[in-house]
Amino acid sequence: MSPTEAAAALGHARERTEALLAPLSDDQLTQQYSSLQSPLVWDLAHIGYFEELWLLRRAAGREAVSQDYDDLYDSFAHARAERGDLPILSPARARAYVGEVREAVLELLPELPPERVAMVAQHELQHGETMAQTLALADLPQPAPHGPPEVEASGEVLIPAGEFVLGSDDPWTYDNERLPHPVELPAFRIDRALVTNAEYAEFAADEGVEPPPSSGTPREPVLHVSFDEAEAYARWAGKRLPTEPEWEKAVKLAGDELEHARGAAWQWTASFFGAYPGFRAFPYAEYSKVFFGEDYRVLRGGSWVTDPLVARPTFRNWDLPQRRQIFSGIRCASDA
Ligand SMILES: [Fe+2]
Repeated sequence: MSPTEAAAALGHARERTEALLAPLSDDQLTQQYSSLQSPLVWDLAHIGYFEELWLLRRAAGREAVSQDYDDLYDSFAHARAERGDLPILSPARARAYVGEVREAVLELLPELPPERVAMVAQHELQHGETMAQTLALADLPQPAPHGPPEVEASGEVLIPAGEFVLGSDDPWTYDNERLPHPVELPAFRIDRALVTNAEYAEFAADEGVEPPPSSGTPREPVLHVSFDEAEAYARWAGKRLPTEPEWEKAVKLAGDELEHARGAAWQWTASFFGAYPGFRAFPYAEYSKVFFGEDYRVLRGGSWVTDPLVARPTFRNWDLPQRRQIFSGIRCASDA
């Protein structure tokens, strides 16, 4: 990864953030819309804080801009539900702060490690998706393209038995995607298409469960379903959710045959979030390590809001099995 590439990613991430927040009033930026999400202006200042911490303070040895930010903007210091009550920066001050940090970073760029810069850019892109979740919960304007593409494919792909390499050590990858290692799987089938709103509505009517609130467009992939709901749907359809290695193998071997594998809806897998052999926390344990175990299930792929830089075949997302605020959908699999 070259310094130019890393710098371009920073610029790209900032354009996305600004486009996402531009249509919103100060009131919309500061409101706490849901206990699951931060006020949008918290996300904005936290983006600047993360960049200041990892690039200006830790990589370049600069003094902190403010002693208060370690408490206000560290994501482990306060639960999302409490952040609306904290003395956080106003929209104008948050914008000024992230602008100042970025200006200093761009001046120092030739001296900064490109992998660290890439991590900061990806962090901002991921918060872009978090903010889009807040916009969806609050019924506020969504970023372009304003929703997922329609589902057109049907049928299944047979993935033959055998070994493949799970994970990657590409410079853009996070610690939890490393180390790449061989995994042997039996043959399985995976659906070419994501489950649509129409299909999910049939299941919901049959089983007497509530369909997700914004499911009016029959040919679009169902979004905002929990792991528990995704698993129940797969069972109802006579199938199952793919495991995480199955999903990655299918995408690496037959990615072209799977419609919207990366970029319409996150796809729940049957797997818990865990460490690959040889895992080393980088650059800090709080990114992935503290979430390993049997609390969180892995999602793969990426949604229509996920930036292509993030939606790589090895990227691992995770959430609690009952959560549905993310842009999460379903792709089923079955034994061959
Ligand atoms: Fe963050």
